[in-house]
Amino acid sequence: MLKNLFATTSISASPNAGELPDVGAHGEATLKRALTARHLVMLGIGAIIGAGIFVITGQAAAQHAGPAIVLSFVLAGFACALAALCYAEFAAMLPVSGSAYSYSYATLGEYVAWFVGWSLVLEYLFTVATVAAGWSGYFNKLLSLISGWVGHDVSLPQVLASAPFTVVDGHIQATGMLINLPAVAIIAAITGLCYVGITQSAFVNSIIVAIKVTVILLFIAFAAKYVNPDNWHPFIPANEGASKYGWSGVGRAAAIVFFSYIGFDAVSTAAAEAKNPQRDMPIGILGSLVVCTILYIIVAGILTGIADFRLLGTPEPVATALDNYPTLHWLQIIVVIGAVTGLSSVILVMLMGQPRIFYSMARDGLIPAVFGRIHKKFRTPHVGTVVVGVLAALLGGMFNIGVLGEMVAMGTLLAFATVCIGVLVLRYTRPELPRAFRVPVPWLVCPLGALACMALFLQSFVEHWRWMLAWIAIGQVIYFFYGYSHSKLRKPAA
Ligand code: ALA
Repeated sequence: MLKNLFATTSISASPNAGELPDVGAHGEATLKRALTARHLVMLGIGAIIGAGIFVITGQAAAQHAGPAIVLSFVLAGFACALAALCYAEFAAMLPVSGSAYSYSYATLGEYVAWFVGWSLVLEYLFTVATVAAGWSGYFNKLLSLISGWVGHDVSLPQVLASAPFTVVDGHIQATGMLINLPAVAIIAAITGLCYVGITQSAFVNSIIVAIKVTVILLFIAFAAKYVNPDNWHPFIPANEGASKYGWSGVGRAAAIVFFSYIGFDAVSTAAAEAKNPQRDMPIGILGSLVVCTILYIIVAGILTGIADFRLLGTPEPVATALDNYPTLHWLQIIVVIGAVTGLSSVILVMLMGQPRIFYSMARDGLIPAVFGRIHKKFRTPHVGTVVVGVLAALLGGMFNIGVLGEMVAMGTLLAFATVCIGVLVLRYTRPELPRAFRVPVPWLVCPLGALACMALFLQSFVEHWRWMLAWIAIGQVIYFFYGYSHSKLRKPAA
C-alpha cells in the first residue's frame, strides 16, 4: 500500500501533458490553446491584486504591524518570489491544468498530490468566497456613495448584505444577518462567464486589469503628495503582546498580507490553454508577481503615510485613508469603483482555476469523472465550473472575510512549499528532462522557499489549527474512501 500511496505519474505520460488536439483520443472535447504571454501576465495580475491590498492590508496594519506593514509585504513577497521561480520551472516543463497538484503527482506521489490538490481547494474555492465577501463591502460603499449623489437611498438593507456567520476565537457565531447577497450575485455572474469560454474570460479579465492598475497608479500619483512622514514614526510600534505590533506583529502581518500575493500561481492552471507554455508560463508567473510586488510596497507605504495606521482597520481601508483629504474626494470614488471592478477579476481567475485543477484530478481518477467533462461547444470544464460556483456562492454568502482569508493562505502555503520541494526532487530524480526555465541555485532557492512558506503557514496555523486539521481530516476520508480505489494510475489503460 505504501508503494501505491507514493506512486508517481510518469512525466512524459502524464495524463494531460503536452499539446492538446481539438478532440481527444475518444472524440471528447479538449481545452483550447488560446492564451498568449500578454494574456498570462494579465491573468496573473487579475488574480493577484484584489482583497489583499484593497481590504486586508488595512486590518493587518491597524492590528499587527503599523507602518511596518511595508516590511510585512517585503517578507511575504520574498517567500512568494522563491515559490514563483519553482512554479515557473514546473509550469514550463509540465504544461497541464492541474498546477501544484499535477507537479506533486509527478514528483512526490499520489498521496502528496491528493493532499496538495485538497489544499488547493482551500486556495481557489475559498479565495473566490473571500474576495466576493470583500467585493460586497466595496459594492455597499459604492451604493451608499450613489445614494448621496441621487438623494435617494439605494443601498441594500444590512441583513441582505452581510454574512450570517462569523468565527470568533475559533468558534462559529451567528451575526443576526441573513445573507451576503452581493457576494452570491457576483459569483453567479462570473460563473456564467467562465462557463462560456476561456477567450471571453481572458478578454474580460484584461479590461478589468487595465482599470484596476490605472486606479492604483492614480492613487499612488495623487495620494503620494499628502504623505506625512510623522505617520511613519514609530515605524515598528512597540509590541503590545499577542502579535500586536513589534517584530512578532510584522511576522503575523506578513502571514496575513501573503493573501495579497496569491494568484501568480493561478497562471499555471492555464498552462494547457497557453499557445506557447514553455516560453510564456515563466513570463506570466514571474512578470505578474514582479509588477504586483512593486505596486504593493508603494501602496502600503502611502496608505500608512497619509493616515494614522490605527484608523485603517475598516472594510475599505484604501478609501478610508483618503477620508481626511476633501480635495481627494474624487480619488476616493475612483478607488471604490476600481476595487469593485478589480476584485471581480480575482474571482474570475480563481473561478477559472479551480475547475481546471478538478479536471486534472478527475482525469487521474481521484475525484468523479464528471469533473473531467469538457463542454463540446465552449471547450470549458463546465460541470466543475458550475459546482465550484455554487459551493463558493454558499461560502461567500454565509461567512465573513477574516477566517476564509486565513484558510486560503494556509492551503496555498502548503501547496507552495510542496512545489518548492518537488522542483528539487525532480532535479535529482530526472536531471535529464528538458527544462525551458530553470530555478537558479536550486539547492538554495528551493529549500529556502519551502522554509519561508512553512514559517508563514505556522503563523496562521497557531490561531486556526482546529479548522485546518478538520479540513485535512475531511480530505483524508475522501481520499481513502474514493480516490485511492478509483485512481487510474493503478488501473491498466482502457
Ligand atoms: N491575491 C488575491 C487578493 O488579494 C487573492 O484578492
